Parts: sequence; structure tokens; C-alpha cells
Amino acid sequence: MAVYDLATGLRAHALYSQVALHAEYGGVVPELASRDHVRKLLPLIRQTLAEAGLGVRDLGGVAYTAGPGLVGALLVGAGVGRALAWALDVPAIGVHHMEGHLLAPLIEDPELRPPFVALLVSGGHSQLVAVRAIGDYELLGETLDDAAGEAFDKTAKLMGLPYPGGPHLAKLATTGRAGVFRFARPMTDRPGLDFSFSGLKTQVLLAWQRSDQSAATRADIARGFEDAIVDTLAIKCERALDAAGMDTLIVAGGVGANARLREQLQEQAARRGGRVRFPRLAFCTDNGAMIAYAGALRLAAGLHEDAQVQVRPRWDMATLPAVGRMSGEGRFVIRDS
Ligand code: KG4
Ligand code: ZN
Repeated sequence: MAVYDLATGLRAHALYSQVALHAEYGGVVPELASRDHVRKLLPLIRQTLAEAGLGVRDLGGVAYTAGPGLVGALLVGAGVGRALAWALDVPAIGVHHMEGHLLAPLIEDPELRPPFVALLVSGGHSQLVAVRAIGDYELLGETLDDAAGEAFDKTAKLMGLPYPGGPHLAKLATTGRAGVFRFARPMTDRPGLDFSFSGLKTQVLLAWQRSDQSAATRADIARGFEDAIVDTLAIKCERALDAAGMDTLIVAGGVGANARLREQLQEQAARRGGRVRFPRLAFCTDNGAMIAYAGALRLAAGLHEDAQVQVRPRWDMATLPAVGRMSGEGRFVIRDS
């Protein structure tokens, strides 16, 4: 949950994590997720408004995630968001979850503006997107099977690490030795910008089964796996920048919180004479601020929808209408609405 003001920036944001709820099951249980949203949403709205020092009547519009994602969870947010907007008589808009991730680096970095290439790496998506303007997104490449975060989570699970696996595996990798286990860099030996991570998981499984399964070996495998993912992502990012003729890379989504990925992309940018930008860690993983920000931009452009609760479990970002462009002074030139 977050309150964003285009004139003054982020006013407040709060997060209620369901990690503890799902940990027992080793993954997200959709029905438990949506029921927990029902319980937590209104208290979290009140808390965020209180932190912003605002009342509900001060809101000029409402944004909520309309997709892609789990339909039950989406419907709770859409239902509450729409009802709030209806009651307050303000416009509301359903935001694309991945556009939220994509715009997150801009929330606290007013200098940053398109054109840039975005690497979006979350639990459900791995995409490279050429961003020419806010709302002008060209998909350059994506995963053919598992998402990068999913690969982290599944690999962690098969070595017995707790949910959510990604951060646990990354932490373990810091104590592992580089090069003891070397896994493939999938699809880097041929041209193209698509990814494939599911084979990597199988390589790790075989290595783990054949090993002594000691704590030290587990750390070495974690390190080998992380290096393989990070190298693969870095190679594809470099190719995407070349293909798009751009020198700025932004990284967002949960895997964007990975320290080794951040470090390697920074080194690569320094070598190329380009730049790479990440949101702060809390805005890499799912958060309300990114949805409030994307929604505020779209509402300011006059984009909103009728008072109907509609969500899209699947949603192609390239079908979104354009918002406008950034002027030389870093302000948004909103399109004629
Ligand atoms: O964007 P996000 O919070 O939720 C989705 O929209 O999916 O991404 C969650 C994903 C999970 O797969 C999680 O394991 C991964 O991001 N993740 C990480 C790290 N932190 C979160 N993966 C690798 N290293 C991390 N430090
Ligand atoms: Zn996400």
C-alpha cells in the first residue's frame, strides 16, 4: 500500500508480507493468499494514510494491480480499489504488475528517464524490454520456461532450503567458492535475447544428488548456480543494449535485489561506459509504491477505466496505451487525453 503525489513524491508506503503464511507449504497457496488480503487490506490502507498524515478524502485517485497474477488475489485488490474510488467519486485505474516493477527505479531517481532497456526479473517473469517512453514497451526477449526467480526458488527447494528460496540461496552463495561447480549459461552460445532456466535446475539436482551433500558443498553449488544465472542475465543485458542502441539499463523485480547481479551489472556498465540503475531493495520485490507511482502517472495522463471490477491473470504489456514522454527538464509531457 502506498500514497504517491506527483508534485511531492512518495508520501507513505507499507507492506504486509505473506511469507510466514506460505512458508509452511513451501510456496504460495492462492486461496490462503486472497483470504489474507481480505483481512489485511483495510487495516493497511488506514495505516498508510495515517503515516502520510492524510484522510481518505484527500485521495485524488486509486490505483490497484489488475494483472497479471493470481485471479483471487487480484480480485480482492480490484474490488477494494474500485469500491473506494466509487465511494470517493475519484477515478481509478488497474495497473499492470510488470509496468509497476519497470517504473520502480524512477520513483526515487528523478534524473532517470527513457529511453532505456529494462531487465525485469521476478518470480513469474524474466523479460528484457526496450522502453522508449512511459507506456511504450517493446519486448526484446523473455524466458521460454522458468522465470529467474522461479529458478532460484526451485533450486533452493531441491537442496532443502526454506521458502522463499531466492534470498536464502543468495545468502548461502556468499559463503560458497566460485568455480567448484560450473553450470551452463543457457542459450548464450547462440544469438537471441530469450532465456531458458529450467535445464539449470536439473543440472543442479544431478550435481547435488552426486555430491556428499555437506553444508560446504551446498554453499559451493549455490555459488555455482548463482554465477550461472547472473552471467546469463548479464550477457543478455549487454546484447539487448546493443540491439536497442541504448546505454542505460534498469533492473527491477525480486531478483533485482540480488547483490551479485547488481555488482556484476555495475561492473559491466562501467566497462561499457553506460549506466545501470536499480530501485532500493524494498522496491525491487513486490511493493505498493510501484503500483501507486505507475497509477499516478496514468491517472495524470487522463487514463482511467469505467467502474467495473476487471482483472487479467494474463496480460501482454505491449498492448498498454502510451502515457507521454519526458521533457528535457525531466518533467512528464502528458499525452493529449
Ligand atoms: O517481484 P517479486 O517480489 O514477486 C513477483 O512478482 O514474482 O519477486 C519474487 C522473486 C522470488 O522468486 C524470490 O526468490 C526472488 O524474487 N528473490 C531473489 C532475491 N530476493 C528475491 N532472488 C535472488 N536473490 C535475491 N536476493
Ligand atoms: Zn512482482
